[in-house]
Amino acid sequence: MKDDIKEILFSEKKLKRRIAELGAELTKDYAGKKLVLIGVLKGCFMFLADLSRNIDLECEIRFLTASSYGFSSVTSGRVNIDRDIDFDVEGRDVIIIEDILDSGITMTALRAFVAKHKPSSLKICTMLDKPDRRQLPITADYTGFICPNEFVVGFGLDYGERYRNLPYVASLKPEVYS
Ligand code: IMP
Ligand code: MG
Repeated sequence: MKDDIKEILFSEKKLKRRIAELGAELTKDYAGKKLVLIGVLKGCFMFLADLSRNIDLECEIRFLTASSYGFSSVTSGRVNIDRDIDFDVEGRDVIIIEDILDSGITMTALRAFVAKHKPSSLKICTMLDKPDRRQLPITADYTGFICPNEFVVGFGLDYGERYRNLPYVASLKPEVYS
């Protein structure tokens, strides 16, 4: 698996430090509130696990599944949304937790879906952002790192369901795609 890595872009240490900062920022911004964190599966699992442990507030943790990539590194443009049962966020302070914001197509669909359930506030927190690739005008309220315009894996992010367990974010060698 490690032979497929071209370059480590965000090390385990760097991610850990930044996630602690994000957690502290959320703890401050939402002081006195009860949060609902909605993780976007599957890519968010590692980021959400670490982020939530750095939030010193009462939080409910929920998940949505969004898929548009399948076994490709280019978005299909169609987003399928699935949710966990008894999804109820009306009147709540909600943050959608995503691994990476790329074209923005997935997050635009997710935000509209969650907004329909009438939260009292709705924000977006993403571990990585690739602003150069945006096709729809959407920005995150909280961002871990700006990511170069390259397909990346690790720390939850996959290529064909592989590499999610790498403890860092890395780019892949071009031959891995062919
Ligand atoms: P978007 O709809 O193009 O913004 O894509 C967002 C989703 O695509 C993310 O939730 C990821 O699951 C996936 N994705 C986008 N870029 C990458 C990448 O570089 N590596 C792995 N997955 C990615
Ligand atoms: Mg994905």
